[in-house]
Amino acid sequence: MSDKKLGVLVHGAGWVSGQHVTAFKNNPHTDVVAISSRKLASAQARAEEAGLDDISLYDDYEAALKHDGVDLVSVCTPQQLHCENVLAAAAAGKHLVIEKPVGNSLDELRQMRDAVRETGVKTLVSFVLRWNPLFQTIKAMVADDTVGNVYFVETDYEHDIASWWTGFEDARKASTGVSAFLTGGCHAIDAMRWFAGQGEFEAARPVEVFAYSGGWRKGVAREFNYLTNEFREAPPLEYDGLEVALVKFDNGALGKVSVNFDCVMPYTFPLEIFGDKGTIRDNKVWSHKFPGQKDWVEVPSILPDSAEVSHHPFQAQMDHFVECLLTDQESHCNLEDAIQTHEIVFAAQQCYETGGPVKLPLLRP
Ligand SMILES: NC(=O)c1ccc[n+]([C@@H]2O[C@H](COP(=O)([O-])OP(=O)(O)OC[C@H]3O[C@@H](n4cnc5c(N)ncnc54)[C@H](OP(=O)(O)O)[C@@H]3O)[C@@H](O)[C@H]2O)c1
Repeated sequence: MSDKKLGVLVHGAGWVSGQHVTAFKNNPHTDVVAISSRKLASAQARAEEAGLDDISLYDDYEAALKHDGVDLVSVCTPQQLHCENVLAAAAAGKHLVIEKPVGNSLDELRQMRDAVRETGVKTLVSFVLRWNPLFQTIKAMVADDTVGNVYFVETDYEHDIASWWTGFEDARKASTGVSAFLTGGCHAIDAMRWFAGQGEFEAARPVEVFAYSGGWRKGVAREFNYLTNEFREAPPLEYDGLEVALVKFDNGALGKVSVNFDCVMPYTFPLEIFGDKGTIRDNKVWSHKFPGQKDWVEVPSILPDSAEVSHHPFQAQMDHFVECLLTDQESHCNLEDAIQTHEIVFAAQQCYETGGPVKLPLLRP
């Protein structure tokens, strides 16, 4: 292991980028050497907020990629820019943290996958909940036979995404946000895959998808703000805010997953994992390991119950990726793995057009 620290460029200085900057600043093996964004002032604000007064700031991504000492790029721009940002960084030989969703189409997924394969850079896709303490506890329990063989998983991303979010203007449009599953629901899809995989660091491989979409918000210029508990006029979603999918995995497990941007309530991310020897509901466990059990055993953990990025375990996610880079290992949450999560999103869209189930994979291996 070399003593030299890895240099990090954070690109796209908005809401989530503050967490990336802080996590890389705190990791003992990385230095944030540059921040780039569309506006120099945004990069400046992020640097000042993190107390980084001696780093370089750019409003030109290509120039930032040439900055001396950049080993790793964190892509924090809006989703419609991720593909071009990733292709440029991979061509420059930089390792990549890619914010979710990684791309807006199957073709973008293919282009990024091929570029990463050709250049051999390492990737981590920011499905940050894999490092949430309850997620980690559940995965360890599943791997330890607490519920036996997992045969059914349900996960739901119930989040009234609205104009309080800085990224909403891009995300609400079909041309840039694409769908509710893609914009936010991919977290629940990834969680479903994660818990349907039996190993501690293994996500299940989807082989078939069927989905419906609906809800009330598409085209309606009214939104609920759960932070203020008020309805108000706002630009509408250009796609259905509710999507529900059924998924078959290659290990025989089934999954049911939903995204609900139309819900009138605070953010929730419920989890249910059913095995042939037990069940997990959020932080409650029923298991063959507790003979004579009379009530649910509750794990007092940190639940995935907030949409606030400062609540998300970005530090643990980045520490994991840095460890992968230092030990020359692939992350379980790399681009190749994340493509399986994203394929479920695009398979759901195909279902809405054809009315029939869709077999995966959609991209040729
Ligand atoms: N993993 C998670 O849990 C999580 C949480 C939140 C967000 N995200 C994802 O992170 C990404 C960013 O979301 P966000 O909430 O941070 O959005 P945001 O606050 O809108 O920030 C995005 C930033 O990108 C910059 N940008 C826009 N166009 C650009 C361009 N052409 N070139 C360079 N920079 C550009 C903007 O910077 P300027 O100010 O310079 O214009 C903006 O501040 C999205 O994909 C989102 O889904 C993930």
